Amino acid sequence: MENITQSSQVDDIRLAEITRKRYNRIAPLYDLMEWFVEKATFSSWRKLLWSRIKAGNVLEVGVGTGKNIPYYPSDASLTAVDLSEGMLAFAQRRAEDLAKPVKFQRMDAQALTFPDNFFDSAVATFVFCSVPQPVVGLGELKRVVKPGGDIWLLEHVRVNKPVISFLMDLLNPLVVRIMGANINRQTVQNVEAAGLRILEVENLKGKLVRLIHASPD
Ligand SMILES: C[S@@+](CC[C@H](N)C(=O)[O-])C[C@H]1O[C@@H](n2cnc3c(N)ncnc32)[C@H](O)[C@@H]1O
Repeated sequence: MENITQSSQVDDIRLAEITRKRYNRIAPLYDLMEWFVEKATFSSWRKLLWSRIKAGNVLEVGVGTGKNIPYYPSDASLTAVDLSEGMLAFAQRRAEDLAKPVKFQRMDAQALTFPDNFFDSAVATFVFCSVPQPVVGLGELKRVVKPGGDIWLLEHVRVNKPVISFLMDLLNPLVVRIMGANINRQTVQNVEAAGLRILEVENLKGKLVRLIHASPD
């Protein structure tokens, strides 16, 4: 039993390291790769999400190059983490350019170093498609957000329609290699599996992109 646990911990560390290196490689190209979708749709979804965030102690997990930073509410205290120091460097520069005070830390969403019940809210956008063990990471959000607090996730998910889900599963390994993201994650189910309570799921692009509001208790 101990050996099985040890080998799964070794696997988790190895997978996190692969993800970190992949995003370090992607970092200089990331904004360019997403330029069109960002302008066409993502920016309005980010605006919508952040308009819902109340003042308080807020955590952004998987901040990436900091595309949410322009929408951070000025009355909130922001902490932002990411596994990839390459992505974080861009986010830090963006925060400086926008004169937004943000506490940045390189950290694995699957092993947050914050105490229990520390944040009023946590946000992640397009992150749990790339966290190697999403249920573990979501469980960490449950732990660090105070009872009665809010967890907001903007995620693209697997569409449960016969041909589409088949194609998503087929293409997934290629997309992971190029973009680092799994296109067939069942994030709503993962949120439930992590023990979070779903308050609302809004469909932003059919059932492909979903805004999930959850509570830790
Ligand atoms: C697709 S990008 C999204 C970035 C940003 N949230 C956005 O909306 O543009 C996924 C981000 O999640 C980060 N990430 C992946 N696995 C992670 C983990 N285990 N812990 C923290 N960050 C992680 C990646 O480094 C990357 O910056």
